[in-house]
Amino acid sequence: MHSLGILLSGRGSNFVAIADSIDAGRIADARVAVVISNRAGAPGLATAGQRGLDALVISSKGKPREEHDREVVAALKQHNVDLVCLAGYMRLLSPWFVKQFPRRILNIHPSLLPAFPGLEAQEQAFAYGVKVSGCTVHFVDEELDHGAIIVQKTVPVLDSDDEHTLAARILEQEHIAYTEAINIVLGETFEIAGRRLKSSQKAEVRMQK
Ligand code: GRF
Repeated sequence: MHSLGILLSGRGSNFVAIADSIDAGRIADARVAVVISNRAGAPGLATAGQRGLDALVISSKGKPREEHDREVVAALKQHNVDLVCLAGYMRLLSPWFVKQFPRRILNIHPSLLPAFPGLEAQEQAFAYGVKVSGCTVHFVDEELDHGAIIVQKTVPVLDSDDEHTLAARILEQEHIAYTEAINIVLGETFEIAGRRLKSSQKAEVRMQK
């Protein structure tokens, strides 16, 4: 049984999508062992509590990055976490944190990386005038929005879009992409050469509306 640790700072819709995929059997042999937020008021944390999951606040306020990371890693290890999923976690991980879970930390970003890393990626893409955007699930390394890409999903930018409608359609794809990426990583059916990940697994997920 795999134990997932979810790190979030806000709304938590990607966390919910992952938890729903586990409950529905789209991610097999896994459970959410702990949900950790650096912000006490994160709505995603309340949702985790309502779902009966272990939900912790480990505040990052005023702490040096690595000190906070050490507290978070200690909590993840206490819960025997073997896959860390960043789901709207608004913190860059220290190199030390990254080393604690080699190829076992994933992040989701709402653009087709390497385009538009950082904050407000959907707004950046919209303002740039791209005709296609999307989302990326990637391994986490020491650099922001940078590690090897596991899954990407494209989303067309429509003439009728504004940044909010575009972000909403990207979010729908995020929820599908994260489940696919988790299945690839937990299934260990991939190889990485340089930045290129090749998966021999058909990870495509069918979501029921
Ligand atoms: C998502 O757009 C994700 O790609 C980005 O932060 C947002 C988090 O949304 N990293 P939610 O908290 O999962 O709803």
